[in-house]
Amino acid sequence: KDKVTIGLCGLGTVGTGVIRILQNHQEEIKHKLGCEIEVKKILVHTLNKSREIDFAPELLTTEAEELVGDKDIDIIIEVMGGIEGTYPLLEKALKNKKHIITANKDLMAVHGQKLLQLAKANHCDIFYEASVAGGIPILRSLTDGLASDRIQKMMGIVNGTTNYILTKMTDDQLAYETVLKEAQDLGYAEADPTADVGGLDAARKMALLANLAFKMNINLNDVEVTGITSISQEDIVFAARLGYTIKLIGVASVFDGKVEVSVEPTLLPEDHPLALVKNEYNAVYIYGEAVGETMFYGPGAGSMPTATSVVSDLMEAVKNIRLGINGNSYVTPQFETRLKENAE
Ligand code: NAP
Ligand code: HSE
Repeated sequence: KDKVTIGLCGLGTVGTGVIRILQNHQEEIKHKLGCEIEVKKILVHTLNKSREIDFAPELLTTEAEELVGDKDIDIIIEVMGGIEGTYPLLEKALKNKKHIITANKDLMAVHGQKLLQLAKANHCDIFYEASVAGGIPILRSLTDGLASDRIQKMMGIVNGTTNYILTKMTDDQLAYETVLKEAQDLGYAEADPTADVGGLDAARKMALLANLAFKMNINLNDVEVTGITSISQEDIVFAARLGYTIKLIGVASVFDGKVEVSVEPTLLPEDHPLALVKNEYNAVYIYGEAVGETMFYGPGAGSMPTATSVVSDLMEAVKNIRLGINGNSYVTPQFETRLKENAE
């Protein structure tokens, strides 16, 4: 194939970044892949909306079938968000033998297992690096870079919106509502920020990390979740007086085959490495039996960082298409066995 064809579902914060990277890094990407990438259709909700990028307006459609039903489209990139609209869309795309790239942790934490099985049955790939910690290549680091180790514990800040809110409430003494609005305007928050501030977004990401690290199938109901909505300015000031910073911390650990996953506001000494992670940045600490302590840090939300992960996934999918292979590198053999057991 000299050209791989894409259908892009969503042209919001992340979708716009994807188009920008494909335009701005076109030559490098083509050189690395040895082929061109063409965006054939873009699915949006509202056609006549002002957009921040230059693109051919005839690419836009509100008809999903024009993407998932087009036999010339090889890969669907889903950056629309939500579960109800996206699950049937991706299910159909896989049945039509299209590879999937998604940034959707809501979908992957709830229906990931089913979609991965469907992908396998149809010899397709699903990549979802952007769904956890935005621009940090954390899924690949876990499953490739640390593949030889036994991961015992992970701990981190995996929601950019809440870290932005807590940072601004702490450093600038701004009110919760003011900074939540800023996080929304900057494109960090979900369309409905309830999952961000309530801790569910972080819980979904910790479950996805734990699934990969411990080769498990974590049920979200088993994750202990407390968000930041009850954290007051007084709590923050009081903690600071004692030398502590409040952060929303996700923890996942395994001991004797028993996995525990939680997300909750946590008091950290102000010189703790995770206390120094500010604004929309994320950080994930991983402890492996052989490697010991590792830490991954970077922008956890926002247009270009998240789009970087999406386009890097896209490049891996294109490489697989060109090699005539498929096999999602995030799915380890043990995980596949587990998926099969679940299906039975
Ligand atoms: P967004 O800015 O709200 O954009 C959503 C896009 O999807 C818009 O272009 C919208 O169309 C389109 N859309 C929504 N519902 C649709 C429907 N039913 N039919 C057709 N088009 C529809 O969202 P986003 O921030 O880019 O996030 C997208 C996904 O990436 C979500 O799963 C999110 O969790 C994930 N993510 C986001 C970030 C981030 O920093 N923002 C980081 C990591 C992962 P219109 O433009 O016409 O409204
Ligand atoms: N709303 C999410 C966050 C986007 O703030 O972390 C990145 O997944």
